[in-house]
Amino acid sequence: MMKTDMVPAYLGRPARIQTLIRSLERRTVITPEIAKDCVQAANIQANDLQLWTDFEHPVANSYGRQLIYDGGHFEIMVMSWLPGDYSAIHDHGAAQWGAVQSFGEAEHAVFRLDQMQLSTVSVHPFSAGTINVVTHDLIHQMGNPSNRPFLSLHVYGSLGHHGPITGGARIFNLYEECTQYTDGGVFFGLPAHQITRQVNGLRGDRETTLRHHEQMLARVHRRLADGEDTILLLQTATMLQQDLADFKTVTSHV
Ligand SMILES: [Fe+2]
Repeated sequence: MMKTDMVPAYLGRPARIQTLIRSLERRTVITPEIAKDCVQAANIQANDLQLWTDFEHPVANSYGRQLIYDGGHFEIMVMSWLPGDYSAIHDHGAAQWGAVQSFGEAEHAVFRLDQMQLSTVSVHPFSAGTINVVTHDLIHQMGNPSNRPFLSLHVYGSLGHHGPITGGARIFNLYEECTQYTDGGVFFGLPAHQITRQVNGLRGDRETTLRHHEQMLARVHRRLADGEDTILLLQTATMLQQDLADFKTVTSHV
């Protein structure tokens, strides 16, 4: 009779997810491209992820987030994106490699950080079935510009690492002009108790700041519409609206 502690932890999950877990566990070297190949070969379908959907996530959270599997040196997660859900601009903590598969019509933006100045490298559609690689130095953002909810599958890892793989991820907050560290979701307007450290002095170019503020304001408006009318949230909405109006005034005079 097999002892309970010898039963692989991944059993009980859908077969294609087990395939992905086994292929990641048996590798002794993993690069972002290898992680992408593992995700591609597993051929996971949106139906395989239904147990981990989180479309009822709190409005204060920028998207739904569920852990499927903690493999020690890697983790597999499912994100749930309602129409208009956007992550904050972020990186991935200790992750050295990763891969993200979209199951809907997502948008993917990539950024460059140079001397605490953030600029936009690209903004592209991230279509259903597409798999993007995640490198350690990737600063990016994902969101749902469509009118349909969808899921995405995320694999992050770091061989030899102990502790949460994406713990210590950075959020690039252009409204508060700072970099915030968190061990949880990379949401706009993260509450203070979810920020482990903060470094001031971040700036963004016009395009990046404008887009950031519009997306942050959209999230604030959703929270206000949901009944979360705190003074801080109302002040944030006013300040973001003022910043955006100032940006547009400056532009019209250029
Ligand atoms: Fe990410």
